[in-house]
Parts: sequence; structure tokens; C-alpha cells
Amino acid sequence: MIDQLTDAFAVTNHVRFSDGENGMPVVLLENRFGSATAYLHGAHVTDLRLNTHPSPVLWMSPKAVFADGKAIRGGVPICWPWFGPHSADESKPNHGFARNRSWSVAGSKVDDGEVTVSFSLSQDDATLELWPHEFELEYSVSLSDRLAMRLQFWNTGSAPASVGGALHSYFKVSQIENSTVEFGKPTEYYDQLEDMARKRQEGPVVFDREVDRIYIPDEDVAHINDVGFDRIINVTSQGSRSAVVWNPWTEKAKRMGDFPDDGYRTMLCVETANAADDVHTIEPNAIHVLEQTISIADAK
Ligand code: BG6
Repeated sequence: MIDQLTDAFAVTNHVRFSDGENGMPVVLLENRFGSATAYLHGAHVTDLRLNTHPSPVLWMSPKAVFADGKAIRGGVPICWPWFGPHSADESKPNHGFARNRSWSVAGSKVDDGEVTVSFSLSQDDATLELWPHEFELEYSVSLSDRLAMRLQFWNTGSAPASVGGALHSYFKVSQIENSTVEFGKPTEYYDQLEDMARKRQEGPVVFDREVDRIYIPDEDVAHINDVGFDRIINVTSQGSRSAVVWNPWTEKAKRMGDFPDDGYRTMLCVETANAADDVHTIEPNAIHVLEQTISIADAK
């Protein structure tokens, strides 16, 4: 498989394929600004390094499981076509099925220093059983001096399809007490820990307990301020009016088998989402695009 991927899509010095954990194929993107790694399983970005800052941008669980039908814990899982539990049937996989399946590589290119690898996924018997719609998903991952991720859903079926989801990004932070998230302006959110109670955020989001919230920001950028790493991670979004902020804190961390008990101390999630009211009905033959870019600046 690696040989075929290499023949079809490798680009000298920029795009390389190899066996990752548990023999699962991975692609490495490299340019003068840094590197990124993605598994074909879930089209899952597991690593991002930007040379301007020494520490990895994304958090990966040391207990992550790499197996068919299972989502990798950390990096950027693609939650799709629904966010969280299925609204009518909680026996269906949390966060949909896109992150649990193997995707195909659809293309690679280098354009003015920007390295792009794209992946595709479409329906099969198993997805139709979980979600009765035909679809073509294309996901491109582009490394320039930042990482851009673009998820395009094309409704190839004959009925309208309701889609939610998230680019569920796990960020590495120096220490959770040193880290805050800001949306630029005061913003409202749904508290998933209090039955979706609607609340208002004034000032930055701080982490001193479990946080599981769906924000509805006016601005399309979130800032993760980390004084310990002396950096600000900027997450910009398009096709999204909701942003999930999550840290499992102590008890939930213990309940997750693929998450270390103290993992919550060095990570937080800011997810470019289509969640809560931000679910989209897409007509046959229409598309919906969800995008985010991740970049880093020095702390002010
Ligand atoms: C977040 C949800 O997006 O994902 C949390 O808001 C959830 O409620 C978390 O616990 C992790 O979900 P999972 O399915 O990857 O364990």
C-alpha cells in the first residue's frame, strides 16, 4: 500500500508515505515552515510542527488506540455527519463515523511552497446503515506557514441531508492553568454540562474545572493564549457559527480508557463546529464546506 501511495502521490521533499502505528498508513507533509502528519484512518491530522515555535501545536494522547472502527485520541479527528451523540439514536457512534473509517488519498500538490494532500470518503453499506444518505466528502490539508483544513460535503443523494460535525482540534498547552481561550468579544454559549443552559462569556475562558461548551461567537477567530509556551494559537473558521471548547478535567479523564489521568493538564480542545443550532440542511447536489486554519504567534 505504501508503495502504491508513494508512486501515485509522493512529492520529493514535501509529501512522504510510511507505516504509522499498528501498520496504518500515514502521510508526512513538509515545507520550510514545518511539518504535519495525517493518518488515512479518519483523514486524521496527528501532528503539526511550526518551526517558529519548538513545541508541537497539537496534543496527542500517549494512550491513543490505532484500530479500525476506533477514533484516534488527539490531533484533529473529523466529527461528521453529526456532532456528539446522534440526536435520535445514542447507540450510533458519538461524533459520527468519518473519524472511524479509512479514507482514500485523492491528490497531492505543492504550490508556491504550500503543500496539500487531499482525502476522500463516500458512502458504503455500513455508512448507509448509520446515515441514509449518499455523499462525497473531500478533505484537504494544506501546510504553508499555517495549517489549513477544508472539509467539503457534496450531497450526491436525492434527499436533503442534515449535517453537523466538527474539526475537533486538540491543542497542546504548557499547563492548563496558564492557558485561556478568547473569541475577541463577549459571546454566548450552551453549557453541555448543564443541559445546554445558555450562558454569557465575559472575558477569556479559563480552565479550573471540566469545560464542555458550544460557543456562538460573532468573530471567526479564536485565540489560545499560553504564557508558559509564550505563544498564541489562532484558529480561524469558515462555514461554522459554533465553536466547542472542551477540557475533560479529572473525573472524565479517568473514565476515558485512551486518555491518561493527568492528560487534561496539558491539552484543551477548540473545535470548529457545526453544532447545536448550527446544523445545516444541504439540498441534493449542493455542497457545504467547513474550514479552519491554525497558526501561531508570539505571546503579546
Ligand atoms: C467534545 C464533546 O467535542 O468531545 C465532549 O463536547 C466529548 O462532550 C468530547 O466528551 C470527546 O468525545 P469522544 O467521543 O471523542 O470521547
